[in-house]
Amino acid sequence: MSNKNLKRIAISTGGGDAPGLNAVIRAATLAALNRGWEVVGIRDGFNGLMFPERYPQGGVVPLTRNTVRGITHLGGTIIGTTNRGNPLRFPVKMPNGEVCEVDRSDELIQRFALHEIDALISVGGDGSLTIANALYQKGLRVIGVPKTIDNDLDQTVITFGFDTAVSFAVDCLDRLHTTAASHGRVMVVEVMGRYAGWIALEAGIAGSADAILIPEIPYDLQSVANKIRERDRSGANFSIVVVAEGARPKGGTVSVLEREAGKAERLGGVGEKVEKELAALTGKETRLVVLGHLLRGGSPTRFDRLIALRFGAAAVRALAEGQNGVMVALDPPTVKYVPLASATHRMKSVPLDGDTILTARDLGICLGD
Ligand code: F6P
Repeated sequence: MSNKNLKRIAISTGGGDAPGLNAVIRAATLAALNRGWEVVGIRDGFNGLMFPERYPQGGVVPLTRNTVRGITHLGGTIIGTTNRGNPLRFPVKMPNGEVCEVDRSDELIQRFALHEIDALISVGGDGSLTIANALYQKGLRVIGVPKTIDNDLDQTVITFGFDTAVSFAVDCLDRLHTTAASHGRVMVVEVMGRYAGWIALEAGIAGSADAILIPEIPYDLQSVANKIRERDRSGANFSIVVVAEGARPKGGTVSVLEREAGKAERLGGVGEKVEKELAALTGKETRLVVLGHLLRGGSPTRFDRLIALRFGAAAVRALAEGQNGVMVALDPPTVKYVPLASATHRMKSVPLDGDTILTARDLGICLGD
């Protein structure tokens, strides 16, 4: 397969920002410019195409060697992103005040044609790649690039953004150890990750946590309290408990902060519950730290920069080869292409029989079960 007909391609970044987005933009832009194609960035996911009137400089901006210079190490995305107003489930207020969701993807397809965009590189997580797949089904040429700090996308060994988030969380755990030890406290640390426990598990193990609670293993706080008491008896007198935002008690539900039409539910609040209950169960001074959006910020690690650059360049190679409807995936030592449809709607959870979980157990880390 080959494709000599491409003249103008677009890049869109959607969903929560993740360190490495700018590296993808730079690599994809340079690889495309080097093939003689024109490149544009769509502002804020697909909003730039859907609502151009909202952008004084235009909803679609040219990406040139100058605009992508010096951005590899920068967090965030120079073209903006959004995780609201999904065009497949666009929220519309009805005359009776109710909000219903409508599919506006046909309109979006027309806007691509209006801007003479021949192909799209869509960089995002499950939500954005589901939109990308729908656009592909409607005839747009699309290549997906997997992004999320949560690492919960199927079909790729890892997503970019995850390594930076875990590295930062480990740094925080190292710092929290000193206060925990000096004051003989229990420090509860809530981390993001949505319905998967990748960040909590990997940061917790690398950061020497004593208990790690993940969505894949509903927890019983009695077992965490026993672990804390055992540590006290052994003379450690402090404990670090890492809680994934999607963790839930045995027989209980996930803690949701907000539900809104056209947007994924916002998780959070479990750390506070765990902090209060552990304080009551152990009688120890307990403190909560919610790392939240700090995990999404900062400069991407060397690992994230490199896979983001590799993903961006691979997306352009895929277009040049005439591929369509596929996502770039990491399959060490190389990158491969998988159908977009196979990567979406299927969350990659932490495997309970995997060696990372076994490592946690062998180290004596309590997983709340
Ligand atoms: O998917 C990335 C993520 O940071 C999740 O870990 C978290 O649940 C969610 O996005 C938070 O979204 P928002 O930026 O809308 O608060």
